[in-house]
Amino acid sequence: MKKKTESKKCAPKVAVQKVAVKKSANILLERTDKVVTKDKNSVLKIFGPSYKVSAILNEAMNEARAAETGLPVAKVLEVLKLRDHWCIRREWIEGKTLAETMAGDKKNLMRYLKEFVAIQCEIFSKTSERMGNLADKLDKQISASALPKETRYDLHMRLQSMPRGKALCHGDFNPTNVIITASGDWRVIDWSHVRLGDPLADVARTYLLFWLSGHVAAAEKYMALACEALKVKIADVQKWLPIVAAAESSKEQSVKNHELLLHWASVVDYE
Ligand SMILES: Nc1ncnc2c1ncn2[C@@H]1O[C@H](COP(=O)(O)OP(=O)(O)O)[C@@H](O)[C@H]1O
Ligand SMILES: [Mg+2]
Repeated sequence: MKKKTESKKCAPKVAVQKVAVKKSANILLERTDKVVTKDKNSVLKIFGPSYKVSAILNEAMNEARAAETGLPVAKVLEVLKLRDHWCIRREWIEGKTLAETMAGDKKNLMRYLKEFVAIQCEIFSKTSERMGNLADKLDKQISASALPKETRYDLHMRLQSMPRGKALCHGDFNPTNVIITASGDWRVIDWSHVRLGDPLADVARTYLLFWLSGHVAAAEKYMALACEALKVKIADVQKWLPIVAAAESSKEQSVKNHELLLHWASVVDYE
């Protein structure tokens, strides 16, 4: 492996701005400048002012396009403005996320990972008209990353040599975005990053997401299962890793993870 010079730039600054919600709100998740709440039989994703209106409308559009592929998703019900906040309302899915299920039943990790991979492969079997390509998004994110100019150049070149692909790639496929219902059916949520692309790029991103959330053993097991299901070598997915790590570093908010991503993005040659 060849490692390029480290970047001198530091992690991107993030404007911390909490979204104000009612005290009685049933909060499912709270992030910097975004809150997800349960509201009767629906879920309300409330965005803070750092989100561009176009990005919020695009997220709703992506969710609608994902639903049109026929995959089981949580349907978008409306896009609305509550006081000063743009919101997306989607169907509530009664169940548990795969992340919760896995955390509560560690001995069956392999079984859940197999199911997780099977769901991802079903997503890859779909495509969509008029959806952007993942390679174009990755290209922009590499340009926006804090990596040295030469590394960014190498990554742009590498990306050009990779297949563009036309498979539906969720873009944020991780166990918190899969809900398993009481009857054992699954639904995939959170399609804001969906694009068409090479499935192996999406596998590389999911592998990275396991890593970044501290589930390193699960990451390796997931990689092996995904490669087996797609009948590819692990080395083929690893070729995407510096590219997806660089792309991720352009938005990663944790300083520790940011440094890790910059390191991976700098490893441009896999033996
Ligand atoms: N339609 C839904 N039904 C049930 N739970 C949901 C639904 N949408 C979101 N959630 C819960 O809220 C969490 C965050 O929602 P998500 O849309 O994934 O936000 P983020 O973009 O911040 O990851 C999910 O991991 C899940 O636990
Ligand atoms: Mg999510």
